[in-house]
Amino acid sequence: MKNNQKFLIVLPAILLLCLLATRISLPTDPEESWQAPIAPISPDSTTLVARGAYLVNAIGCADCHSPKQLGAHGPEVIPELHLSGFPQTAVVPPIDLASVRLGWVLFSPDLTSAVGPWGQSFAANITSDPTGIGNWSEAQFKRALRQGKYKGLENSRTLLPPMPWETYKNMSDEDLKAIFYYLKTTRPVNNVVPPPRAFVDLQ
Ligand code: HEC
Repeated sequence: MKNNQKFLIVLPAILLLCLLATRISLPTDPEESWQAPIAPISPDSTTLVARGAYLVNAIGCADCHSPKQLGAHGPEVIPELHLSGFPQTAVVPPIDLASVRLGWVLFSPDLTSAVGPWGQSFAANITSDPTGIGNWSEAQFKRALRQGKYKGLENSRTLLPPMPWETYKNMSDEDLKAIFYYLKTTRPVNNVVPPPRAFVDLQ
């Protein structure tokens, strides 16, 4: 067989293989795959969830988003309240506005609330509960972390400090997706975090 003829037989086979490969690796539409608050986990998403858990634990989302209690080693995350934000029933100590006027930033003892020139902010509930990100789409989550939009909605307010979204916007699409998938599997905690308070309202 001439080389040219061999090529003509092999070429369609290669094309067919390429076509199959693209079909297999094509990601599903994120909007479609998150219709339900907690989607069933396929082998693929198990890897993604593990990656998301790794990132959340390594980056330290819990530093601000998880209520804590004082333990032997200082503030320790309360496991059943992991990532549920500033507890709706919590009482914060009186705010020393004189220090804030001098330029200090204050944190509540478990770091779920902070006071600064922007007023007082409260870390959001980012568990899989509907009072958290349970009903969010992946697009909403990415908009929140990339554009700092409250609830990830187009025309909402900008997220306040100390949420470091301007750093997180540098994460890859895959990593943000992994974090989102992981958060969707977290234990749902019903907790409605209070809205932020403007500086003038703190006087
Ligand atoms: C240094 C503290 C801090 C860290 C670390 C932090 N956050 Fe936040 N985050 C906040 C605060 C405070 C808010 C609320 C800001 C506001 O109300 O404007 C917030 C808001 C959010 C929101 C928006 C919630 C909503 O209802 O709009 C999301 C989503 C979020 N954080 C996810 C994360 C993730 C994921 C991580 C880790 C990768 C993380 N945060 C790490 C402090 C932090």
